[in-house]
Amino acid sequence: MKAGCRPGRGEVPVRNAGREQKSALFGNMYPLLLTIHSLFRWAVLAGLLFALLRAYRGWLTRAAFSAFDDTVRHVAATIAHVQLLIGLGLYYASPLTNYFYDNARAALRQREIRFFGLEHPSLMLTAIVLISIGSALAKRKTEPAAKFKTVAIWFTIALLLLLLSIPWPFSPLVSRPYGRWG
Ligand code: HEM
Repeated sequence: MKAGCRPGRGEVPVRNAGREQKSALFGNMYPLLLTIHSLFRWAVLAGLLFALLRAYRGWLTRAAFSAFDDTVRHVAATIAHVQLLIGLGLYYASPLTNYFYDNARAALRQREIRFFGLEHPSLMLTAIVLISIGSALAKRKTEPAAKFKTVAIWFTIALLLLLLSIPWPFSPLVSRPYGRWG
């Protein structure tokens, strides 16, 4: 199609061509990504809570930082990173975030659209950065107590941010179910 011409039958306007391709690629992925992202929150929370339990216990009882503790720290951070990747895919595929970018001015005044277009991703990204920093700093410490303390502090702040940013069914911000099953 020539620039400035109206599209003919079956032709995609040039400025929408990318969106058409995108919806073909990701449109079918959306329900799957949403289901996985929704359920995977429980893995993220379980990983963080277990890492925190071990960190506070080790810190308070002055225990040795075992290889198992190191694995727990590493696995908790990895699970959060996987959720970040799924979240990024969902951010690209979601009709809510597409609406956010297509109608930014109006969307900023719509709580649900603003939440998923802006607030949820940025708070979650911050939380995952805190987990990554805490995990990396703990790895570099040599004293067991310092390792436990580092994990405990950074992961606690991240957990609070996560709990605040998850759209729980009871959340005053935006509510979604506890999980999706297809
Ligand atoms: C550990 C981090 C995260 C957790 C625990 C989490 C959790 C959730 C939950 C529980 C939902 C509701 C799902 C449902 O409707 O059943 C959701 C929705 C969503 N999340 Fe996340 N999320 C995280 C990170 C992210 C990140 C980093 C992004 C984007 C970069 C993101 C993008 C989205 C989007 C776009 C939706 C809404 C999709 C839609 O309804 O169309 N999430 N998230």
